[in-house]
Amino acid sequence: MTMRSLFFYTLFSATMMFKGHASEPVVHDPAEKEVTKLEEQMDRMNTAYRKLRRQVGDASKNESSLELVGIMREVVTTARDLAPVKTADLLEEERIEFVAGYREQLGKLDIILTAIETALKAGNNTDATKLIGDLREVQKAGHREYKKSDQA
Ligand code: HEM
Repeated sequence: MTMRSLFFYTLFSATMMFKGHASEPVVHDPAEKEVTKLEEQMDRMNTAYRKLRRQVGDASKNESSLELVGIMREVVTTARDLAPVKTADLLEEERIEFVAGYREQLGKLDIILTAIETALKAGNNTDATKLIGDLREVQKAGHREYKKSDQA
């Protein structure tokens, strides 16, 4: 296979791969806007994240905090196989890089979540609390780059 045909083959496969994911809305209520599977996952992450932020410094809640981190890591795994809505607005040749960057950003989130998990397991609530700030940075960068500007 020549480099050129390999390139087009890769592009074609990637386009087919994202076709089924990028715009599969799950409709909840006709009065509401359509909610994507990724938004559903992000909402799940948000609920766990908010609770975690409140209790991460409290060593008596470490068991529950570890469960919350577990939920967030599950979301990261599921979200890796979904593509942001914004993907559909891009030119085909931009999509591979866009989705690769999106997954990389999720990878960064997972690294921090793993570090929080390690700190909590060691009973080091001071480190776990500091790491929450890093999560926020990765979230902000992820949304800036991968959410459509008109999304909530
Ligand atoms: C602590 C981490 C994070 C939290 C708590 C969070 C939370 C949220 C929330 C609440 C929404 C709106 C959901 C809705 O409209 O119903 C959202 C959407 C979104 N988030 Fe996150 N997020 C996090 C990290 C990230 C990261 C790291 C990325 C990128 C790699 C990302 C990409 C997106 C995208 C693309 C959407 C729009 C959904 C779509 O396109 O279908 N988020 N997020």
